[in-house]
Amino acid sequence: MSGYQLGENVSLAGRNTFRIPARAEILADVKNSDALAELFDFAMLRSGPVMVLGEGSNILFAADVPGVVICLTMSEINIIRDEGDVALVRADAGVNWNDFIGWTLGRGLLGLENMSLIPGTVGACPIQNIGAYGVEAGEFIETVEVFDRQSQRMKRIGKAECEFAYRDSLFKQDLNRYVICAVEFLLPRHRELKLDYAGVREELSGMGIENPRAVHVAEAISRIRTRKLPNPAILGNAGSFFKNPIIPAAQAEQLKSQYDQLPSYPGDSDDTRKISAAWLIENAGWKGFRDGDAGIAEQHALVLVNYGNATGQQLLGLARRVAKSVYEKFGVHIEPEPRIIGASFFE
Ligand code: FAD
Ligand code: EPU
Repeated sequence: MSGYQLGENVSLAGRNTFRIPARAEILADVKNSDALAELFDFAMLRSGPVMVLGEGSNILFAADVPGVVICLTMSEINIIRDEGDVALVRADAGVNWNDFIGWTLGRGLLGLENMSLIPGTVGACPIQNIGAYGVEAGEFIETVEVFDRQSQRMKRIGKAECEFAYRDSLFKQDLNRYVICAVEFLLPRHRELKLDYAGVREELSGMGIENPRAVHVAEAISRIRTRKLPNPAILGNAGSFFKNPIIPAAQAEQLKSQYDQLPSYPGDSDDTRKISAAWLIENAGWKGFRDGDAGIAEQHALVLVNYGNATGQQLLGLARRVAKSVYEKFGVHIEPEPRIIGASFFE
């Protein structure tokens, strides 16, 4: 068979950062997007579901996975148009995100540095419009190349149609429709650095850098992240397990009047605010909590961790308890960020 390789009853333990040993009924490593139409025909004949898996850094497997799990392995990066001040760069879905940032910075192309060290693939970056330290991927994405399962054809989706928002996009709203095969980014050669996120300037001055360049920012952010977040290679996790909730401004003000330390940020409109889920969880008493091998990280209250042999169901059970207690204490619903496979978060 050309373009893809199939395996049966394959363990996904090494393919998700929670390191849950779920099994895929069929795993398809896809080397070429031209193979997707044939692969979907194959899946249709078996009448099983199909899902796409990147590096598994934003997924919780609560069960084994029936049907076909697709992993895209295409990994080319090319400058497709260079206008001097800006360049349009196309990266295949299988490229590692942090490697991609290194590739762009090495060619003097700026903008992605604040998102250094976010795990995962380029193909997944538009799904939740990844972001960190004041910058989101959607700010630089021009076009997303997809295989549209509805029309069974390749399609180019422009930035305006992508509906990028905080941890959200068109793609996330319909996870079963699009396979993202490549992403095009418009990257500038000159741009003011974004240093306002708490701790970034301090980290740079601690490194002895007075006039930072983008590579220094990438290094500073990598250092902060390494300190703040548990390393999935050592302790299974998927980064923030909950999104920061966006709530009505009036409710945020009322909470702030009761809890003046609660961090809050602009929301998606004037009458909303985004508040810190980590603060809510820590102040509901969960930071460092452990039940068997499922826990809440000691260094960051937003990170659910697998100390070794927690099952997806146990981690999900703990996450539900945390969300319930945050609601009971603060009246705020917190929602999971990762995709949960084989169960629904809301019972
Ligand atoms: P996966 O986890 O494999 O998949 C995530 C979702 O995307 C799933 O729904 C999957 O079906 C879908 N998907 C993946 N690839 C494709 C594709 N090619 N086509 C269609 N659908 C696809 N995220 C942030 O935004 N900011 C952070 O600062 C951040 N920090 C993190 C820190 C740690 C330690 C960890 C473990 C995770 C962190 N994350 C962060 C979350 C995660 O890194 C991102 O969501 C990342 O984009 C996931 O990439 P992935 O390839 O692992 O996707
Ligand atoms: N805080 C606590 N307790 C903690 C940790 C943090 O109270 O245990 C409070 C502190 O006041 C801190 C504030 O929360 O100032 C914000 O913390 P942090 O800077 O770590 O950011 P975050 O809101 O917890 C978000 C993203 C991260 C991203 C960072 C940096 C979400 C859900 N998470 O975390 O993304 O790396 O900002 O931009 O938006 C991810 O999505 O997986 C992820 C790691």
